Amino acid sequence: MKNVFLGIMSVIAMLGITGNVLAAEKKAAPAEKAMPMYWDKWDKGTAKGIVPPCGVNVLPLGGDDILQATVDTYCAVKPGQYSSYINPAVMDIYKKRGNKYPDGKTGILEFKEIGVAFTTDHKNGMPIYDVVSLKDGKSVASKEKGHPLNPEVCANCHASFKQVCVGFVCGNR
Ligand code: HEC
Repeated sequence: MKNVFLGIMSVIAMLGITGNVLAAEKKAAPAEKAMPMYWDKWDKGTAKGIVPPCGVNVLPLGGDDILQATVDTYCAVKPGQYSSYINPAVMDIYKKRGNKYPDGKTGILEFKEIGVAFTTDHKNGMPIYDVVSLKDGKSVASKEKGHPLNPEVCANCHASFKQVCVGFVCGNR
């Protein structure tokens, strides 16, 4: 009887310890993400949501063809929730669905759970795409042909769904 009691006590103690370790990890996480990003004070854009698991058809859920293509491209890396941020300097153009963005930073699509942000800049009317790590702001874009994080892949999609993305911006459609 005594042994059973001790057994239960040690299980409780173990749970307590694991619980604390988890709690400590949870507390430590936001500190790691404290790296300031240039879009921290930007307002959110319209694009936000969650990338569902592969195979999910988003059309009956109110999604459109380009969103379905986006899900199909990125579902495998399970990116989770995303939010977009728009540079206040171009917010008017964004809201009016203008197609001419000035040189500079345009928008962000942030995937907190996988720790990356997609970035769109403009230069001479043309888009520049990149993928940066939320840890240090450094580029984690891929050079591999056809890789979902290769800026060529970004460019193809943002330019290929006719009239859906204006000025190479897609979230305000
Ligand atoms: C298959 C299509 C597709 C691909 C590939 C794609 N995007 Fe997008 N992108 C979209 C769509 C659609 C949205 C808006 C999502 C929404 O409305 O929820 C978007 C939104 C964005 C936004 C937010 C600003 C805006 O345009 O609304 C940025 C920034 C962005 N994408 C950059 C990138 C980068 C960088 C890559 C490559 C690493 C990339 N995208 C790859 C379709 C795509």
